[in-house]
Amino acid sequence: MSTPLRLGIAGLGTVGTGVVKIVRQKANLLAERAGRPVTITAVSARTRDKDRGINISSYAWEDDPVALAKRDDVDVFVELVGGSDGPAKAATEAALAAGKDVVTANKAMLAHHGQALALAAEDAGRVIRFEAAVAGGIPVIKALTEGLAGNEISRVMGVMNGTCNYILTRMQSAGLPYEDVFEEANQLGYLEADPTLDVGGIDAGHKLSLLSSIAFGCEVDFASVELEGIERITIEDINHAADMGFRIKLLGVAQLTGRGLEQRMSPCLVPANSPLGQLEGGTNMVVLEGDQVEQVVLRGPGAGEGPTASAVMGDVMDITRGFRIKTFGRPAAALTKAKPAKAATPAPYYLRMALDDKPGALAKVATVLGTAGVSIDRMRQYMHDDSTAPILIVTHKTTRDALDKALSDMSALDVIATDPVALRIESV
Ligand code: HSE
Repeated sequence: MSTPLRLGIAGLGTVGTGVVKIVRQKANLLAERAGRPVTITAVSARTRDKDRGINISSYAWEDDPVALAKRDDVDVFVELVGGSDGPAKAATEAALAAGKDVVTANKAMLAHHGQALALAAEDAGRVIRFEAAVAGGIPVIKALTEGLAGNEISRVMGVMNGTCNYILTRMQSAGLPYEDVFEEANQLGYLEADPTLDVGGIDAGHKLSLLSSIAFGCEVDFASVELEGIERITIEDINHAADMGFRIKLLGVAQLTGRGLEQRMSPCLVPANSPLGQLEGGTNMVVLEGDQVEQVVLRGPGAGEGPTASAVMGDVMDITRGFRIKTFGRPAAALTKAKPAKAATPAPYYLRMALDDKPGALAKVATVLGTAGVSIDRMRQYMHDDSTAPILIVTHKTTRDALDKALSDMSALDVIATDPVALRIESV
């Protein structure tokens, strides 16, 4: 039998435990498929003596992931520590410098340091693979980098944070307010240690920036992703959207236009009967559009032990088979610096705000919209209390620039009781 490929795994949380299980339980299958065995030689985690439901006594132990990354008996460093900097980055850099390939699930690290790490990998003649970093078990990195390599990609879209999709769909199905469902998600262990990564759209924004780099051949530019979370979405928004035949989704959209690279991750209204509109619970969906293939829709579990470990193992198997590809699908030095652009395509917007309930308040809002060139399609005033009047406006198609001008002028009005929530109505 050929020499085994030896893994050093840093991080034995949910995903790391899942990877250990696959390597142990499917040893024969993996060896048959790759033509050589896959083994684990060493592991590292914060706590050694924790019951993880796996026996790690046959693996060498390292307290420090950097030491693990440098071990002579490790061929591939599997980074499952997490965090954009700190030990994860130090160990990844150490692994590359020591001549190891790297498999990681760390979207934050790549979103912030992807270009530098890709350059370091190429300098060292090593690869970094990160299927598990985007959309859990969905093989979207492979689809984009390999399967669609013959296409010019026009747009990448998707729901890439299962926690947000769980919260939004559960609010709708149970008729519960955001705060209650957030707490439910917390109890179920769905939320990241820092929940703003999920509900602030940051985790999904990291993922989108990685897909953009592959799709459009540009350096990862997470800083330019327009980010908006789901924290201000109310059950009323969800119900209003449903009344109009829409669902609210935390939707990522990236496209390269004449104006530059548009990347946004924000709550949007999508048609209820579209594939994205019908996405329930923690499931993810990524839509890839190319000039030859038109549209490919990938749907699957976005998180969890099995799905994420499955993605890690896909990368490990590529390396075991000798398949080596540049981090973002082309040499890092050839990636361009794209100019960031705001959403260029006009779209209708949903606006919700509360006004002081006094004469002329609505007229002032309508004037601001009209002056900015934003035309009102529909409007409704509903269930107001003694002093404020909640208003719902759906605009005709408008640009984000025009809308932003209107929102900024609106904030200066003396009749706004609650700042507007503005949600793009996306045609998908
Ligand atoms: N917290 C993420 C999600 C999973 O809810 O989709 C890992 O990115």
